Amino acid sequence: MREDDFVIDQNWKGYTAEEHAVWDLLYRRQRDLLKDRADPAMLRGLETLNLNRGGIPNFAEINIELKARTGFEVVAVPGLVPDEVFFNHLANRRFPAGQFIRTRAQLDYLQEPDIFHDVFGHVPLLTDPVFADYMEAYGKGGLRATKFGRLKNLAALYWYTVEFGLIETPQGVRIYGAGISSSKDESMFALDDPSPNRLRFDLERVMRTRYRIDDFQQTYFVIRSYDELFRATVDTDFAPLYGRLADGSDYAADTVLPADGVVQAGTQAYARTKAAG
Ligand code: PHE
Ligand code: FE
Repeated sequence: MREDDFVIDQNWKGYTAEEHAVWDLLYRRQRDLLKDRADPAMLRGLETLNLNRGGIPNFAEINIELKARTGFEVVAVPGLVPDEVFFNHLANRRFPAGQFIRTRAQLDYLQEPDIFHDVFGHVPLLTDPVFADYMEAYGKGGLRATKFGRLKNLAALYWYTVEFGLIETPQGVRIYGAGISSSKDESMFALDDPSPNRLRFDLERVMRTRYRIDDFQQTYFVIRSYDELFRATVDTDFAPLYGRLADGSDYAADTVLPADGVVQAGTQAYARTKAAG
């Protein structure tokens, strides 16, 4: 690894009993909420990696199983890392995860991704071969998007899939995005609330859509399978797309377009309440 890769020692032995207890609390809460809300592939990943064994997971242990499945590994970083560093890790099948855990006082909101968001939210799906390939390709695509000056559009793709994606399963629409699955309130809001739009995934549409980083989403995009996501992104050359996106036009986070596949049109009642209040 290079020197400026931001990787640090997880120092698993350094976590306090209180920090392990916070993990357990968050874990139980999300597991109960997600039992009938998350994509079964994500729930299977949690078990495969033994993330339920109690206490903050030790990366050295997770990595044995994870590497055997898909060749991915988790590495510890202090928090957010520069885009290029992030892309480089993904492109080499390393997922950078925050080393620290939130405190009990910040159980429901924090600004930087901590170990609970990163490991509980992101790592289970890295056991899925198609999703793992998507993540690696995304890293490579990030380095390419930088050259085209279209990072903003590629970030929207990450946002509406890896962080806030929904997936159609035989049991109904389910959560796979880590920003949803690691959040108590958004786990309920994303699936149960009538306010947000739930629209069919369409690559260019998604890449033109603005998003809110400080509140629940006004729109979620629904994929049919990781294969669909894979074909639409990994099997597509983005160069012509970046050419079109250079016109800079984008869509508001709550827009429904005539061409959209509407799974469920949102009332946007939540956004109005917020605006009025
Ligand atoms: N196929 C994209 C390109 O040509 C790269 C990419 C793959 C981007 C997967 C995102 C996700 O740039
Ligand atoms: Fe994340």
